[in-house]
Amino acid sequence: MSAPASHYFDEEPTTDSAPRDVVLMLPDIQLTLRTDRGVFGYDRIDAGTKLLLLKAPPPAGDGHLLDLGCGAGAIALTMAHRAPNATVWAVDVNERARELCRVNAERNGLGNVRVCAPDDVPDDVRFATIWSNPAIRIGKPALHAMLRRWLGRLTPDGEAVMVVHKHLGSDSLQAWLTQEGWPTERIASSAGYRILRSTITR
Ligand SMILES: C[S@@+](CC[C@H](N)C(=O)[O-])C[C@H]1O[C@@H](n2cnc3c(N)ncnc32)[C@H](O)[C@@H]1O
Repeated sequence: MSAPASHYFDEEPTTDSAPRDVVLMLPDIQLTLRTDRGVFGYDRIDAGTKLLLLKAPPPAGDGHLLDLGCGAGAIALTMAHRAPNATVWAVDVNERARELCRVNAERNGLGNVRVCAPDDVPDDVRFATIWSNPAIRIGKPALHAMLRRWLGRLTPDGEAVMVVHKHLGSDSLQAWLTQEGWPTERIASSAGYRILRSTITR
């Protein structure tokens, strides 16, 4: 029998480690990020992630911010740089991703990043800003459950900004979010990627 396929969202990747550094260049910051096999975005910065970082409005300046599905940390570390007085929670189910994100925050001198597994975020934490390149490939039921769980923890004035490719269902996700009580608009679009901004129905 063949071994089960591995996914970037496995909790404990079994793929051999082979770390590679990549550089994320943005107008306001340059970050060197260690990436690894078994973690999303090996040896590259995902084009959707980069678009989100170029187009997202500035995050809240204080309080708690969330990178949902942090991978190696491109989004979490950029948020931490742009909001030095906030605490950025970098959450991922994949322990190799969490370790990379920890190392990358330290290497880039960003002390306001807290990396943890989803269940380790204290229940009373509410997020002023959520940014995410969400794990669409976990399937719609799991994706919807994940988004309900975390967008349900936005502060009343909070917002979530996500990048989703049109081939991975950005338009239906936008409609679903709106119907669930998070009015969602498309704020940018490039090469099939959509940047979606969700707020809370008042
Ligand atoms: C598309 S990747 C984005 C990674 C990184 N933020 C980036 O932009 O390069 C999505 C990430 O979500 C993580 N993930 C999957 N299911 C999750 C869940 N239920 N809760 C938190 N993270 C999850 C995956 O392990 C993966 O690292």
